[in-house]
Amino acid sequence: MRRTQAIAALAVVGLTLSACGSDDGESTSGGGGGESGGEVEVFTWWAQGSEKAGLDALVKVFEEQNPDFTFVNGAVAGGAGSNAKNVLQSRLQTNDPPETFQAHAGAELTDYIEANQVQDISAMYEENGWNEVFPQDLLDLLTVDDAIYSVPSNIHRANVVWANPSVLQKAGIDPSTPPASMDDWIAQLEKLKASGVTPLSIGMDWTQVHLLETVLLAELGADAYTGLWDGSTDWASSEVGAAVDTYAQLLSFTNTDRQNLDWPDATQQIIDGKAAYNVMGDWAEAAFQEQNQKFGTDYVTFPVPGTDGTFDFLADSFTLPVGDINTAGTEAWLQTIASPEGQKAFNLAKGSIPARTDVDASEYPPYQQTAIESFANDTIVPSLAHGAATPVAWLGEITAAVSKFSADGDVEGLKSGLVDAAEKNLES
Ligand code: GAL
Repeated sequence: MRRTQAIAALAVVGLTLSACGSDDGESTSGGGGGESGGEVEVFTWWAQGSEKAGLDALVKVFEEQNPDFTFVNGAVAGGAGSNAKNVLQSRLQTNDPPETFQAHAGAELTDYIEANQVQDISAMYEENGWNEVFPQDLLDLLTVDDAIYSVPSNIHRANVVWANPSVLQKAGIDPSTPPASMDDWIAQLEKLKASGVTPLSIGMDWTQVHLLETVLLAELGADAYTGLWDGSTDWASSEVGAAVDTYAQLLSFTNTDRQNLDWPDATQQIIDGKAAYNVMGDWAEAAFQEQNQKFGTDYVTFPVPGTDGTFDFLADSFTLPVGDINTAGTEAWLQTIASPEGQKAFNLAKGSIPARTDVDASEYPPYQQTAIESFANDTIVPSLAHGAATPVAWLGEITAAVSKFSADGDVEGLKSGLVDAAEKNLES
C-alpha cells in the first residue's frame, strides 16, 4: 500500500455528506427484500474494557439509527482475535454465521473471500457513495477481483511506543526526546533495568508478534519490510537475521510472566508505573483515556525507534456473511459503521482514526491528531499481527515460532521457524 493523501483531506469539511448520513434507519429495510427488524448478532473480539467501550459507542449509534433492530453481542474475548478467529471459523464451517463479523482489511479478508464465507457488497458501496468517502488505498485492500466485501470502521496504527515519563525520569532518561534508533533504545532499556523497573512490558504470543513486526520494520525499512510478504525480501538474509537478533535482545528486557498477559495487562503496567515502555497498537490510547491519563504528562508516545515516517497500518472492517442471516440487519449495521456518526462515536472511543476522509480532524484528541498526521504523510505498510500483511495460516505459523522462542530462547530456532513459514506460504 502506498502513501496516501486521503486523510490529508480530513481537515477539509464542508462536503456534502451523501445520503447515508441521515436516512440510515430507513435505507436498510429494503435491503435483501427482508423486513426491517429482528436480531443482529455482531461478532467481534471487543469483549472487555476499553475495547468494549468502543463497541458500546458504536452500538449506541446503531440503536439510535435503527430502533427496529436488536443488537446481539457475539464478542469472544482475547486480544487481536486470538480466540475469536477459531470460534468464528467453526461457526462458519457449521453454517452458523452471525449477521456480521469483524475482519481485518487486507490478506486476512482474502481468506474469507476465497472460502466463499462473505458476500460481495459492491452494490451497497455504489448506492451509498462509499467509494468516494473511503481512501482509495484502503478500498484496494478491501477489494478482490473488482468486488468489495466489507466496510471499514477505523484505521489503527501499530508501530507506537507508549511510555511512562516519570519512570523514565527516575532512571535519568529525558522523556521529551525519544530514542533515535534501536541502539539508543536498547541503551535506555539497560538503564531502566538497572533502575529496577520492567524496561519493556509485553504480553502473550500475539503481542510478541506485534513487537517483532515493528522491529522488522525498524531494521529493514518500509520497502524491505513490505517485501517480506511477497517474497521480494529474503527471510534467510543476514538483514532479517540481524533484525531477529534485535527482537531477541528486546524480549530479554520484558516481564517474564508475559505468556499470561493480554495487551490490556501489559499496557496497564505503564499506567501503573511498573514498566517504562510498551509497544502496542493505538487501541492502547483508549485504555489511557478510560483511566483519565493525560497525553504528554501521564504518558507519552512515539513511533517505534527506527520507524519514524512509517505508519504500520491495520483496519477493522465488517462483513456480510454467506448463509442464513438477517440480511436487512447486517445492512443496517454496515450503514451505521460507515456513517459519519458511527465512525466518529466509534473512533473517539477506540483510539483509532476514522476510515472516512470527510471528517474534521480537529475533533480528535491529541494522540489521534498524531496518527491522522502520520497516516496522511507517512509511508504506509501493512501490519502482520493484525491481518493486513498475510493470510491467517502464515500468521499462525509465525506466531507458533515466536511463541516457541518465548519459551526456549533459541534464536536460531526462531530464525529457521520464520524461514520455514515463509517458504511454505510463499510457494504456490
Ligand atoms: C486488533 C484489532 C483492534 C484491537 C486489537 C486488540 O487486531 O484490529 O481493533 O481490537 O486487535 O484486541
